[in-house]
Amino acid sequence: MIELTNVTKKFGNKIAVNNFSLHIEKGSLTMFIGPSGCGKTTTLRMINRLTPFDKGNIIVNDTPINDVNPVELRRNIGYVIQEIGLFPHLTVFENVAIVPRLLKWEQKKIERRIEEILELVTLNQSFAQKYPLQLSGGEKQRVGLARALAAEPEILLMDEPFGAIDPINRLKLQDSFLEIQEEIKKTIVFVTHDINEAIKLGDKIAIINEGNLIQYDNVSKILSDPANEFVENLLGQDRNIKALSLKKAKDYVLKDGFITVLDTESRESVEKKMKEKNIKIAFALDENNHLKSRFVLEKATETKKQKFIYNPAPWIIERQNNINEALSKMLEAGEKQLPVVNRKKEFVGIIKLSNIFEEVNKKTNIS
Ligand SMILES: Nc1ncnc2c1ncn2[C@@H]1O[C@H](COP(=O)(O)OP(=O)(O)O)[C@@H](O)[C@H]1O
Ligand SMILES: [Mg+2]
Repeated sequence: MIELTNVTKKFGNKIAVNNFSLHIEKGSLTMFIGPSGCGKTTTLRMINRLTPFDKGNIIVNDTPINDVNPVELRRNIGYVIQEIGLFPHLTVFENVAIVPRLLKWEQKKIERRIEEILELVTLNQSFAQKYPLQLSGGEKQRVGLARALAAEPEILLMDEPFGAIDPINRLKLQDSFLEIQEEIKKTIVFVTHDINEAIKLGDKIAIINEGNLIQYDNVSKILSDPANEFVENLLGQDRNIKALSLKKAKDYVLKDGFITVLDTESRESVEKKMKEKNIKIAFALDENNHLKSRFVLEKATETKKQKFIYNPAPWIIERQNNINEALSKMLEAGEKQLPVVNRKKEFVGIIKLSNIFEEVNKKTNIS
């Protein structure tokens, strides 16, 4: 989909990008990581012809980009940057509609598309009429993504899009971004300076230093086989723990060991069902499959009678959480299993601590 061959870019005497060759497959999510000033932004900007290159060749969709009209080229390439660049005097709707308007889409088609795209980035439809000043940092980033995707480009270039977001909201944005990518399968190049973000999001990682491409590989390969000391240092001491984080909650979702009930059902009736079926956990869902509460039937012991517990706000794990995050939540909740939800907050099943330990077990042999 994107092919860079021996690409070099100088600013004056300074080599910003040095003889770069890289092949990016269609539908893949490639992360660029490296120290500030190593040439990440320059490389992105060369791909959509915002910055010309001095030597080499860049091919997008089988055509050298210098043979394509830059405006035409950029129509097929969404671009998301940290500062987002939403127009403050335009509503979210108008901001997202910019490219479809340039493409002269009919008003009805624009309205339909914006409804669909807000839903995709999990923004409530009421956001359409808000102004950028009324949005949080995370909401602005979602709008930035919606705008880049509005005219359905095949390629998305993202330059540290979550860099200015606080850590907690950044994790949430990452989770929903992965859910979105699972659905849209775009070819994405994503710049970050956060190694955890690179590992969590990427199919492949390109590690760059001082304009040179140091290693370009699948994430698991980079973790198991760093090319040199620079890569090792970038990955940090805990790279085996990081390797575990490649496994996601969605890989461990179980569909049994619990029952689901409607949240309108009486507690007595739920308790009765659980006892009849000899099931210890029940999840109450509303008509949209959203998790509302949880019931637990505790084991009776010699000294204690069986207890029936109602939990109105159970801990939740997102499908895209990696197993480190899932483990951390289980420890914080003090529970051996937690419910899992998708991007639309629909209940999809449970994940168990014992399954996570099995994964760790597989990687060790002498006991
Ligand atoms: N327009 C420019 N004029 C001169 N030097 C530039 C320009 N843009 C980038 N550079 C230099 O090129 C190098 C790579 O920059 P950049 O690609 O922005 O790095 P990164 O995004 O990895 O932080 C840096 O040394 C930077 O100072
Ligand atoms: Mg940059």
